[in-house]
Amino acid sequence: MTDAPNPRILKNLPPRHAALSAVMAVHKSGTALDGGLASHPDWKRMEARDRGFARAIATAAIRRDGALRAALDTLIDRPLPDKALKARMVLLCGAAERLALDGAAHAAVDGWVSLMANDASTRNYKNLANAVLRRVASGEAREAFEACDPLDDLPAWLHRRWVDGYGEETARAMAVARSGPPPLDLTCKPGVDAAALAEALGAEVLPNGTVRRAEIGTVEGLPGFEAGDWWVQDAAAALPVQLLKPQAGETIADLCAAPGGKTMQIAASGAVTLAVEASGKRLKRVEANLHRTGLKAELINADAIRWRPEAPLDGVLLDAPCTATGTLRRRPDTAFAKQDGDVANLAAIQDQLLDAAADMVKSGGRIVYCTCSLEREEGEDRIAALLARRTDLRLDPVRTEDLPDLTEAITPDGAVRTRPDLWADRGGLDGFYMARLVKA
Ligand SMILES: C[S@@+](CC[C@H](N)C(=O)[O-])C[C@H]1O[C@@H](n2cnc3c(N)ncnc32)[C@H](O)[C@@H]1O
Repeated sequence: MTDAPNPRILKNLPPRHAALSAVMAVHKSGTALDGGLASHPDWKRMEARDRGFARAIATAAIRRDGALRAALDTLIDRPLPDKALKARMVLLCGAAERLALDGAAHAAVDGWVSLMANDASTRNYKNLANAVLRRVASGEAREAFEACDPLDDLPAWLHRRWVDGYGEETARAMAVARSGPPPLDLTCKPGVDAAALAEALGAEVLPNGTVRRAEIGTVEGLPGFEAGDWWVQDAAAALPVQLLKPQAGETIADLCAAPGGKTMQIAASGAVTLAVEASGKRLKRVEANLHRTGLKAELINADAIRWRPEAPLDGVLLDAPCTATGTLRRRPDTAFAKQDGDVANLAAIQDQLLDAAADMVKSGGRIVYCTCSLEREEGEDRIAALLARRTDLRLDPVRTEDLPDLTEAITPDGAVRTRPDLWADRGGLDGFYMARLVKA
């Protein structure tokens, strides 16, 4: 008698194995989920459908971490020891397939139990996996999954921060908004008929011009991709450049430019666009995006803290590196890759970048500062500290006419704070902070 699975099950193992490896890498070393999936030895050989399946399992396992663990706890008497990380992750991924993706019992149980049986480090838990994964989608386990507070899906450091920063009710609404799959958002090049594109895609045009489709899917085959008519960009991420209002004839720098969503918006305005990016590898992505869309920008591989333009600029867009906690509905793994201490470390870099941006603009020049973080220390507190240490800058308040359909995001002092639970009936928004400044 052998433990070897039959060929039908073996065929279904690589996507589950890729999902398992990627989820382990997120929890063990904070590796990005996409990187973890792509580094699986079978990834390139897998069919697109299998890659999509692997990504769906891994994403659900990370996104619904707390709820899945609550379901598993109802079926496991004694917690598995710390050293049994892999076995715990198999149970988590198996529960994700059954509960979050409503996967068929026999395929999920066969697949995950075979993975357990084929690995010396998990073989002892094979029978446990069989018993647990058969029962996890019903009864007490399903009730525990459905009753779990969405805040418990967040790692503890972020759960505490959101409740402290926003109060329990808003924090929970933000957690709910990040617990399901996000929409696909596209920014169109000027001249492209957004309404026609939306119709072709079964999408809608949001008030800020973003074309939004409920399902992400594969973007490469969509109408207008080859022609470079649009690029993928969350509706909230499109707002900072809309607030900067670049004009033809101006020279505008996009500091921290890759992968280039905001660079393309600035370039599309007709302004001379300087795309400054510290990572040469990531700058190549800006180049590829510009090439596809036929837009032009000068590519500058430099540290924006030290780089200075030849002449003072009309404007700067500073999309500073941050904890990215505002993008968890698109990248749920980010929460597990970061920790509390990262907030203060990144805030120090954001201060240096803000001072650099202030030095780059001419008198009367504009700066829009933004981060895709929901943490005050990377948004509101950075601008308060900047205005306290520099007398040559003032806030240029965002007015209701700038964002007529999103006035709830305008803060009392005229900055903008978007959250995942805003525009909830339209599919939500990434969490961003943005402030517009003018140099005296
Ligand atoms: C939030 S992402 C920018 C997203 C981009 N603005 C967009 O809309 O597509 C931050 C980027 O800043 C870059 N970066 C980090 N520190 C930098 C620095 N000191 N100078 C220039 N770029 C930097 C990172 O490599 C990363 O590509």
